[in-house]
Amino acid sequence: MPDKITVKIDDTTIVVLAGTSVAAAILNSGRAKARRSVIGEARGPLCGMGICYECRASVDGVVHVRSCMVPCADGMVIETDA
Ligand code: FES
Repeated sequence: MPDKITVKIDDTTIVVLAGTSVAAAILNSGRAKARRSVIGEARGPLCGMGICYECRASVDGVVHVRSCMVPCADGMVIETDA
C-alpha cells in the first residue's frame, strides 16, 4: 500500500499518496488552476506529459516548475499564484 505524504498548496495542507504528481495534487485540492497567465487568465494542466507548460507552479520556491512532471514529496510547498 502506498505511503501517504503531506503537501501544502497555497494555504491548504492536504494528504496525497506517494508518487502523486504535483499537478494531480493541485487538482485534488479543488483548484482548477496552477498559475495565471501574464494577462491574468487561469491556467492549468492540459497535456499531463510535460509538453504544454500550462501546469507551471512554484514548488519549494522554484518558479515555473512543470507540475505534471514532479512527484510530491513530504512537506513540499506548492504555490499556484507565484
Ligand atoms: S500539463 Fe502540459 S506540461 Fe504539464
